Amino acid sequence: MSTATAEFELAEPMMLQWLTALGVDVEFVRGEGNTLYFVGPDGAEVPVLDYAGGYGSLILGHNHPGIVGAAREFLDAGTPVLAQASRQTAASRVATALNTVLRREFGVDEPYFAVFSNSGAESIEVALKHAEFDRVLKVKALADGITEHLGAARAALADGTAVLPDAVAAALGLAPGSGIDAVAAEVGGRVAALAARPSLFITLAGGFHGKLVGSVQLTHNPAFRTPFATMAPQARFVPLDRLDALDEVIAQERATVPDLVVDDGVVTVVERDFPVFSAFVLEAIQGEGGIRVVDRAAADRIKAACAAVDCPVVVDEIQSGMGRTGAFFAGSLIGLVPDYVTLAKGLGGGIAKAAVTLVRGGRYRPEFELVHSSTFAKDTFSSTLALTTLELLEADGGAAYRRAADLGERLTALFTALRADFPDVVKDVRGKGLMLGLEFHDQSASAAPSIAQAALTDTFGYAVAGYLFRVHRIRTFPTASATTTLRFEPSVLLTDAEIARLDTALRALAAVLRDQDEEAFTAG
Ligand code: F0G
Repeated sequence: MSTATAEFELAEPMMLQWLTALGVDVEFVRGEGNTLYFVGPDGAEVPVLDYAGGYGSLILGHNHPGIVGAAREFLDAGTPVLAQASRQTAASRVATALNTVLRREFGVDEPYFAVFSNSGAESIEVALKHAEFDRVLKVKALADGITEHLGAARAALADGTAVLPDAVAAALGLAPGSGIDAVAAEVGGRVAALAARPSLFITLAGGFHGKLVGSVQLTHNPAFRTPFATMAPQARFVPLDRLDALDEVIAQERATVPDLVVDDGVVTVVERDFPVFSAFVLEAIQGEGGIRVVDRAAADRIKAACAAVDCPVVVDEIQSGMGRTGAFFAGSLIGLVPDYVTLAKGLGGGIAKAAVTLVRGGRYRPEFELVHSSTFAKDTFSSTLALTTLELLEADGGAAYRRAADLGERLTALFTALRADFPDVVKDVRGKGLMLGLEFHDQSASAAPSIAQAALTDTFGYAVAGYLFRVHRIRTFPTASATTTLRFEPSVLLTDAEIARLDTALRALAAVLRDQDEEAFTAG
């Protein structure tokens, strides 16, 4: 057994077996623009047109010369990568550049503070932790206020400047004649009971927010989420197409606590809203769940419901952000002003791993900086490449965003024409800009055994991806939680020839599926 084989077998052997079965287990040796190359049996490079785009991380393509140049310059200069607890100007400049974009796209005046991290899931966990930290501090402030008021009521009763009417006991469900000690115990007990509740996050059904311990509980797919359900609090899921459920969840969960105030010499009970909601978390466009676009009406509804109970809105732009949809933030196209917004995937320019959570000034808790950190977060290399990426995206008045929108329209027209020509094969076309999904009809009744089998085992999109790779040298994958939808997330460098190649390949695929052609589907 060669060393190379042994290494591969130890690093996710099951995954490799599965890639082999699909015929996509090549090793890419070079990447440029939208093309990846592997070495064929004759020793020559074989180009593959990459529509998977690092699952949406490559808005500027593989190895963009501007980003490679910045990386080279950085390394040649001997710039230190890891100098934690020092002034880190590159990261500060990334935060400033992102604030410029936030102001322009959302019209906000408030600053957003940046907490850097290393991956998408981590940037979500930062948002979850910060939101919970904020809530817990609010709970503490509320509890302290209630304790202080109780003390004031006790003092007023002791010095005879106030009376305790039976209405107080009645309001608290206590026996008539209960004294201030019983009242205080009841109030304290209610506050303590609510404070002990686990944190509560609300999110959309079909969403994907990562696979770490906390974030996976907001990732809807039960296969990813339920084995780990006891490790972190459960989120409440509401369907995007039935947002009434959001009002129902809020009505079920919202809670008040009693506070005692002395009013004109009389102790009375005032119910105060208890901060039970940690955050509402959503993608501006659902990616991994099948490319489902959140529209303006849904955004308005979510914002209004959350504002009514002071629940912060976390917008996950890890896949939809960085200019892919025709704006830097997809949420800006639907007025989804975030309290928190997360970026990852494309932030490091397709070369470095970088992620950031931006927190609206009004919600930001500077003390969070003392309780959260990561060795690698905010490192100079990824921050420098993030800055270069932002400069490239913002250049020429945002030409990249216009190009993404324009290319998106052309790809959408291609998919729509395909659906018109193959209505029994193509079910739906969804998405915005260069974040597009093509959904296929159920093929489980196909006369071609490989097609039917894939459909029956929920692996249809992977089988189709295998066909496109083997026969047409095009790389794409289904969205992992909606496997009859192929996703297309190429870079803004996409050319006419590359669009034409996709057209040819998809038309051939659609014909194979329509004709239930086993031989053609398993070719290559
Ligand atoms: N949020 C969204 C919207 C994502 O699409 C992803 C990852 C994450 C969070 C987690 O980021 O992988 O860096 O920890 N999506 C990948 C996908 C897995 O299939 O699109 P991560």
